[in-house]
Amino acid sequence: MATQARPLAVVTGASTGIGYELAMLCAKKGMNLVVAADEPAIETSANEFRANGVTVDALQADLATLDGVNELIRAIEGRPVAALIANAGRGLGHGFLDQEWTDIQRVIDTNVTGTTYLLHNIGQEMREANAGKILIVGSIAGFMPGTYQAVYNATKSYLDSFSFALRAELKDTNVTVTCLMPGATETEFFERADMLDTKVGSSKKMSAAEVAQIGFDAMMKGDGDVVAGWQNKLRAAMSHVMPSGALAEMHRNMAEPQNQKH
Ligand SMILES: NC(=O)c1ccc[n+]([C@@H]2O[C@H](COP(=O)([O-])OP(=O)(O)OC[C@H]3O[C@@H](n4cnc5c(N)ncnc54)[C@H](OP(=O)(O)O)[C@@H]3O)[C@@H](O)[C@H]2O)c1
Repeated sequence: MATQARPLAVVTGASTGIGYELAMLCAKKGMNLVVAADEPAIETSANEFRANGVTVDALQADLATLDGVNELIRAIEGRPVAALIANAGRGLGHGFLDQEWTDIQRVIDTNVTGTTYLLHNIGQEMREANAGKILIVGSIAGFMPGTYQAVYNATKSYLDSFSFALRAELKDTNVTVTCLMPGATETEFFERADMLDTKVGSSKKMSAAEVAQIGFDAMMKGDGDVVAGWQNKLRAAMSHVMPSGALAEMHRNMAEPQNQKH
């Protein structure tokens, strides 16, 4: 296949975890890539994607800032985006009032503001072209109040909700919007969120490769949403019938730091 004929996928947070696996699936499918993450590790990951014979533009940019997202948009160079995978995100454990404001703001700016800004920009181009697939990485965390991870769960609630609304707005076009809602997944997420000292942080989790495959398949089919794994489907179903107060207590049990247990 000629390089120019390959569709282009844009994947944020592709250096590690679920985003890395999603970008690898795109590369294996023969898609050229524009990938972005905040740390230099994105270059190493990009080389691994290139081993599939596709063209990869790797960008180190802070997607918590509008400048960083604008850099990513510039790196796309006006090419039509066949798949936009909005995956970059971060968690933050511990009690809300014990967290640093700068860390809280970074979670909101990355998960909500940067992601929404990117979707607004590329979404307009996709609507104009009447083509494109969007995959938003939400979470089943968005279905439950996140005691000891309050801000993160709220950001995922935003993304879950947002994805359904955008999908509905685009229903008369050929642009699809899919929301991947993983449960706990084995990545660097919990270490980065300072949550290794919690039940969820130390529990057995789904692999990032398995979760990514589920999300990728759903995106390619144009499904509206997919919860990864049967145990998480069960948790999601429970969260739709349990009262919010009970869910908040259930989350305490999973996310409370062990040294604060009472
Ligand atoms: N792991 C789970 O249990 C789980 C469950 C449900 C949903 N999710 C969601 O899945 C997505 C991927 O997380 P993961 O578990 O794969 O964790 P991860 O291994 O920590 O990957 C996060 C990715 O996002 C990038 N990123 C974070 N902040 C960024 C910023 N400001 N600018 C640019 N890139 C940034 C990271 O790059 P840098 O290292 O360069 O910052 C990394 O590539 C997140 O949206 C997360 O909320 C995860």
